[in-house]
Amino acid sequence: MQRIFSGIAPSGVPTLGNYLGAIRNWVALQEGHACLYCLVDLHAITTFQDPDALRSQTRTQAAILLAAGIDADRHILFNQSAVSAHARLAWIFNCVARVGWLNRMTQFKDKAGKDREAASAGLYVYPTLMAADILAYHATRVPVGDDQRQHLELANDIAQKFNHDYGVTFFPTVEALVPPEAARVMSLRDGGRKMSKSDPSDQSRINLTDDADAIALKIRRARTDAPPLPSEAAGLEGRPEARNLVAIMAALSGRSVAAVLAEHGGQGFGVFKEALTARVVATVAPIAGEAGRLLGDPAHLDGVLRDGAARARAIAEPVVREAERIVGFLG
Ligand code: TYM
Repeated sequence: MQRIFSGIAPSGVPTLGNYLGAIRNWVALQEGHACLYCLVDLHAITTFQDPDALRSQTRTQAAILLAAGIDADRHILFNQSAVSAHARLAWIFNCVARVGWLNRMTQFKDKAGKDREAASAGLYVYPTLMAADILAYHATRVPVGDDQRQHLELANDIAQKFNHDYGVTFFPTVEALVPPEAARVMSLRDGGRKMSKSDPSDQSRINLTDDADAIALKIRRARTDAPPLPSEAAGLEGRPEARNLVAIMAALSGRSVAAVLAEHGGQGFGVFKEALTARVVATVAPIAGEAGRLLGDPAHLDGVLRDGAARARAIAEPVVREAERIVGFLG
């Protein structure tokens, strides 16, 4: 059985972008795969997190993933810092990856912003830790949104160079599983920016904890242009906000953009946004409700993560010990 690994950073409440780009796929892939899903708290602190907020966000994410359908009995849900193998393998990978490779990472450039000198060193080596997350389990399939593709290519470069430098065939190739629609959900305020859980504007995103009223308000206020929806996908050219809302509708209703436009083409945004709101509420409200219930018992959530970490450790520990032996550590 192929092993799946994926992660989400507890740097805020998961958004509809996280759901459509990743979490929904995580749930579906549980059939027929052995899955590990990780709350990547080591990655989260590459930008400063208030410690209490980090604790609470980690629990909120665990609750949301369980509410969305992650089965923590049959699969593994855990937080990254609880399994030290990730950080050990990441160090080895820091010594395999080349500075030139890291300099090409677009996410670092985006996240570091104008003042790159002031970014943390952790933010710079973020992708080597990601490679370690996956390869510590010899996982081969990684369900992610479009923005993580480049990091997975880097993981393959690192695995290949490790194998080559040490003359082994130890680390496998990893494959990105990116959904066909809504692989990059954009901000509701700016069609040129990704919807992000760490965006300062709450109006820019749908949180998976939002209730029906909040969702309706955010979609009503979502930025659009004036013309009605086109009847064909080509008509979305140069209309990023319209394209984004149509892509969200397509992903939520299991249709293509073309099929959505065949139904809604010619409609104004007032009508279309109402239909979209109904779809978003139907998906998000049950998750938000169940997550709220689970958050009432934080000790239970902590227990789920502890149990997941113990099972994750049992898989990662022998792999990382072997990597350390290959490198020449006495152990
Ligand atoms: P993070 O926390 O930024 O996002 C978690 C997942 O959600 C996807 N995603 C989106 N998809 C569509 N539209 C969006 N607007 C959107 N925003 C986020 C991301 O692509 C991701 O799949 N580096 C990762 C976490 C990570 C990881 C890993 C992933 C750490 N180690 C190993 C895979 C394998 C991250 O920060 O994701």
